[in-house]
Amino acid sequence: MDLTNPEIYRSHIRRTLIPQEELQAAIVKVGAEIDEIYAGKPLLLVSILKGAFVFLADLSRAVSIPCEIGFMQAQSYFSGTESSGSVEITMDLEQDISQYHVIIVEDIIDTGRTLKLVAQMLRDRHPLSLKILTLLDKPDRRLVDLKADWSLFTIPDLFVIGYGLDYAEYYRNLPYIAEFDPADKEG
Ligand code: IMP
Ligand code: MG
Repeated sequence: MDLTNPEIYRSHIRRTLIPQEELQAAIVKVGAEIDEIYAGKPLLLVSILKGAFVFLADLSRAVSIPCEIGFMQAQSYFSGTESSGSVEITMDLEQDISQYHVIIVEDIIDTGRTLKLVAQMLRDRHPLSLKILTLLDKPDRRLVDLKADWSLFTIPDLFVIGYGLDYAEYYRNLPYIAEFDPADKEG
């Protein structure tokens, strides 16, 4: 699959699942909720790279109260469909989170395994509070018990791309969420 070829690249975008305007409307709404809940409190928005970088960029501009931004990158290891595994933090936060109310900003919760481990690790650092905000949620795929505090869109078990989400590192820069079409177009 030569995704550097623009025609092939386009042929794997099956359909728009969530258009830009719907994404923005949901983000503006949750931004206003965050403004109300966290006004006057030290707030840290934590994004797990790379998938959530576009969502965080828009969400942070929908929040108008003072806040800090932090990034983490995690590599998780699981065998097959087992729910337990291990997570290695390949890039950590610089903030001491015991001083902050933390919101983990995620692109998508699929099996939930990675996020469950990362959330537990952050909880062990005793933040003032910890909440999870995810743009997309695929509850049918869940392997562990994990619920987001905010989930902006619930989607069926489809592979999606765009708005930060990738297939083989491509499509992160699509400005909307689309369904990926895995069918081989070159044969
Ligand atoms: P999990 O919840 O631990 O299974 O892993 C979630 C991660 O898998 C997300 O942060 C994404 O990077 C990736 N992922 C899961 N579903 C999709 C999808 O439909 N498209 C693109 N990436 C996905
Ligand atoms: Mg990915």
